[in-house]
Amino acid sequence: MCRVIAIMNQKGGVGKTTTTVNLGHALALAGKKVTLLDMDPQGQVAISLGLKNDQGGLDRILLEGEKLDDYLIAARHNLDVVCAGNNLADFEHVALGGSSRGHTLRRAIEASTLLTGDFVLIDCPPSSGLLGINAMFAADELVIPVSGDYLSLQGLSRMMQILKRSESVLGHSIRLWIVSTRMQLRRRLTAEVRLKILKYFPGRVLNTVIRENVSLAECPSFGKSVFEYKEKSAGAEDYQSLAQDLLGGRTS
Ligand SMILES: Nc1ncnc2c1ncn2[C@@H]1O[C@H](COP(=O)(O)OP(=O)(O)OP(=O)(O)O)[C@@H](O)[C@H]1O
Ligand SMILES: [Mg+2]
Repeated sequence: MCRVIAIMNQKGGVGKTTTTVNLGHALALAGKKVTLLDMDPQGQVAISLGLKNDQGGLDRILLEGEKLDDYLIAARHNLDVVCAGNNLADFEHVALGGSSRGHTLRRAIEASTLLTGDFVLIDCPPSSGLLGINAMFAADELVIPVSGDYLSLQGLSRMMQILKRSESVLGHSIRLWIVSTRMQLRRRLTAEVRLKILKYFPGRVLNTVIRENVSLAECPSFGKSVFEYKEKSAGAEDYQSLAQDLLGGRTS
């Protein structure tokens, strides 16, 4: 069965896009069929994989009702991408459709071939508007990257409020996973943040800690995942391990 997972946190810069791209490629390299959906108007999933974001994508699918399958790009073996497109930000201002506006992405996915694969990973914008709600309503699972700083913990508590509200609208629960990202293991604060999330979310924090790693920061500028840019880096090791956590439900 296909797992649809939104990579979400309202807070900016916590590693959502880095996680979408590198976790996605790790799963693809492990033999899973993966599609990445770029729900962030910044269009950075495309850039990170060396693709062009200006040929249309989720903007036309959500705003004009075009078919999702028509915008699938085969980015790598086992890894397809649907780009954001230049006009995705306009979707935040859609006024028509009432409460059904939140379900546009889910309906587009259901009408596509995506669910015949193993994973759909949705990269979300750092906001809680209509794009994020669409991602949440389309997903069965949520991965929340939390970086090793204090404000990141605050982002997490806001995310929990949005999750609770969404679950009550949807009438079913969304499985939650938290992942520690950008961890500087020698900083005391990093350890404190990790301990706090383990305490408040027992059984929901994925085992692997993603370390702050220069290869992860550099690889997008070459249009490569960390596995293509530096296979023997801490970043590649961590995201490969995170993929195994997600496949096996391994939590701390
Ligand atoms: N583990 C890491 N080690 C080093 N740099 C990282 C790591 N994770 C992310 N970065 C870098 O930090 C910056 C922010 O990461 P990223 O774009 O993935 O965050 P984001 O949550 O998607 O941001 P936004 O909210 O703007 O969409 C980027 O420059 C990225 O390359
Ligand atoms: Mg991002």
